[in-house]
Amino acid sequence: MKESILITGANAGLGKETARQLALKNETKRIILFCRNRVKAEAAKEDLEEKTGKKIFEIIIGDVVDAISVRKAAEGINGHIDAIVLNAGGVIGKTAAKLTPSGMNQLAATNILGNVILVEELIKRDLLRKAVLSVSAEAVPGVKMLGVKPVSMRTSSVDEFAAVLDGSYFGNKFDALQAYAYVKYAETMWTLSMARKYPQLKFVVVSPGNTKGTQAPNSLPPPMRFMLKYVMMPIVFPLMGEMVHELEVGAKRFVDGISDERYKSGVFYASKEGKLSGEMVDQSTFWLPAVSSG
Ligand SMILES: NC(=O)c1ccc[n+]([C@@H]2O[C@H](COP(=O)([O-])OP(=O)(O)OC[C@H]3O[C@@H](n4cnc5c(N)ncnc54)[C@H](OP(=O)(O)O)[C@@H]3O)[C@@H](O)[C@H]2O)c1
Repeated sequence: MKESILITGANAGLGKETARQLALKNETKRIILFCRNRVKAEAAKEDLEEKTGKKIFEIIIGDVVDAISVRKAAEGINGHIDAIVLNAGGVIGKTAAKLTPSGMNQLAATNILGNVILVEELIKRDLLRKAVLSVSAEAVPGVKMLGVKPVSMRTSSVDEFAAVLDGSYFGNKFDALQAYAYVKYAETMWTLSMARKYPQLKFVVVSPGNTKGTQAPNSLPPPMRFMLKYVMMPIVFPLMGEMVHELEVGAKRFVDGISDERYKSGVFYASKEGKLSGEMVDQSTFWLPAVSSG
């Protein structure tokens, strides 16, 4: 039973749709919408209340790029949380490579920093009861059609991961989509390490798959945004089979990830090899990152 759920980045796209689907489950008594913008959060809450007929939504304001704001937000959480969906993230756009006070660039801070701090603070305060779902992407094992190569670390050392997080790993050639794959990989590895550290909790990694109807394409470089919006999504992907799906389907992966016993702690689930939709499978059945040397 997951009665109390927190979702980061819950005012739009997959986060908001996940909140809607979870609210419709009888067992759900409380959903915390963790958002950075009060106005957008209030609008999402109102819309969710109208769509679900339930008044179980609360708002916590925090910016996942800003460690101080996330710690403050975590302090404001009362009562236990059964499950948390670490959804805030994305490719970010023009400012992806910009360094933040944490030492991570914006891309890494958005996808990792605040999500990690939130979980650590909730564990420290003994408020986290059952499950943590990290949102990853098929970009990690690679998406050939979009020119994203599979992640392949040279050493998997701490220094190499630190270079991914501050962006120096990519030298002068910062390609946000390729860097996104490495950042999601780092987040995935953190989640799997937490599964080993806290065996009493479920730590699962899920990619929503290639999902229509989110704000995500807006942050891509203009030529890619155009190709994706007007060529790939409406024409090419539907012709290929299991390459794209609706918002409801992507969010259902998160709902299943935390609720369904078939999805196990310590596993990264995403689409089958070469696919971006359809059945979710354990990625290690066809793709493994480089072996760590330390
Ligand atoms: N859509 C896909 O096909 C796809 C595929 C693979 C993985 N994903 C992953 O799925 C997750 C959700 O993506 P989406 O497609 O639903 O994107 P989206 O529509 O852009 O939603 C992202 C959410 O994250 C929030 N967010 C961004 N930066 C934040 C910050 N610094 N602090 C707090 N909240 C922040 C956004 O808030 P604002 O409205 O304030 O910006 C928004 O609520 C992301 O982690 C993304 O990487 C998506």
